[in-house]
Amino acid sequence: MFPQTLLLLLTTLPLALSARHKKAILLEKSGGFHVAGSVLTNPQNRNMTLHCDHGYMEYFIPWKPRATSLVMWHSAHMQVWQNRWDGGIGFKDLFLSRDYPVFLWDAPRLGRANWGCVPYYYQPSYWDQTNFVGWQFGERWPVWHEGVQFPTENKEAWNQATRSRYIEFDTHENMLLQSHAAAVAADSGKLGESVVILTNSVAGLRGQMTAVMSNTTNVKGIVAYESYGYVYPDNANITEVKGGFGPVVVPLEDFKKLTKVKIQFVWGDYRKPNDTWLVQCRRAVNLINLYGGDASMLFLAEEAGLKGSTHSAMADLDNDKVAEQLDKFLRKHKLDRHASWKWF
Ligand SMILES: *[C@@H]1O[C@H](CO)[C@@H](O)[C@H](O)[C@H]1NC(C)=O
Ligand SMILES: *[C@@H]1O[C@H](CO)[C@@H](O)[C@H](O)[C@H]1NC(C)=O
Ligand SMILES: *[C@@H]1O[C@H](CO)[C@@H](O)[C@H](O)[C@H]1NC(C)=O
Ligand SMILES: *[C@@H]1O[C@H](CO)[C@@H](O)[C@H](O)[C@H]1NC(C)=O
Repeated sequence: MFPQTLLLLLTTLPLALSARHKKAILLEKSGGFHVAGSVLTNPQNRNMTLHCDHGYMEYFIPWKPRATSLVMWHSAHMQVWQNRWDGGIGFKDLFLSRDYPVFLWDAPRLGRANWGCVPYYYQPSYWDQTNFVGWQFGERWPVWHEGVQFPTENKEAWNQATRSRYIEFDTHENMLLQSHAAAVAADSGKLGESVVILTNSVAGLRGQMTAVMSNTTNVKGIVAYESYGYVYPDNANITEVKGGFGPVVVPLEDFKKLTKVKIQFVWGDYRKPNDTWLVQCRRAVNLINLYGGDASMLFLAEEAGLKGSTHSAMADLDNDKVAEQLDKFLRKHKLDRHASWKWF
């Protein structure tokens, strides 16, 4: 952006006090780096190696950053953090303009970190209609939910949404690998000493596991939008399922790390009360709080009056209102103060 444009935006600011996102975004720096990973040696030729299974972190540091960084994590489409469904301003820019350092996380094998240590192959299959239902756009293709926060008449919006997907490697091994790499990132200090992990969908399970695997207190919060998959302690009579979606069972002492983190599970508008993920979520929240934690569920429709939220509320047409709910969370837990140090 040219300096002139910045000035223009700044001078029109008082006219647009309600439109907070119109504030210019001024960055100290942006860039990216790789995190964790392995090095394989060719057994036939010890001189040949492969650096693989790392994660990739893209960062944006505001000019006057707050102390808490926001890590944005989706296991199947980063795009939901970058724009609204209609191409409008996404959480990335909404929170940069609020001065939060933003980190976009491609976990190992995903997105720009797809240089894996193991072989994989992509099997095309007819996913569009599954996406439509899975992302809570409607009961069945192509019948949209009444009042859904998606521009249903905008064919390009649907085209963009369903194309934004990539393979997500939902195996137990990948879940552990990805969570561990994120924990290494959080522990490295490169994200600061106060990190809030924002997740969508099955990244929620990975976010919880990141806090469990981390060896520092840098992870301060997790806000999980429609989390698929939960972590439980080994004394709760819960059977682990060794897939990509949990439940994951860990020793009680490890589980207790979740009690040190402020956790909010955010839910859209279209889940039945007996939805598997809601049932698992309640159980996880109760257990975290039983051991002295601070976990809660936020139902956007019932508690915040936001109707029509999809599986990815951060990309919904009313995402500015969804963002205000995150503001509240950050303020409540005093995670909104400005930094008194230089990043990097
Ligand atoms: C590996 O490198 C060493 C030292 O450069 C060399 O002596 C050796 O021949 C190389 N081995 C192979 C299999 O290329
Ligand atoms: C935390 O420490 C344990 C024990 O040393 C280690 O196995 C694990 O890899 C560490 N976690 C991270 C994220 O580095
Ligand atoms: C543990 O779970 C199993 C199967 O879900 C159930 O049959 C059993 O009664 C449970 N035990 C306890 C102590 O809750
Ligand atoms: C939830 O309840 C509905 C209606 O009673 C039923 O059809 C559905 O199978 C239930 N789902 C689960 C996951 O139990």
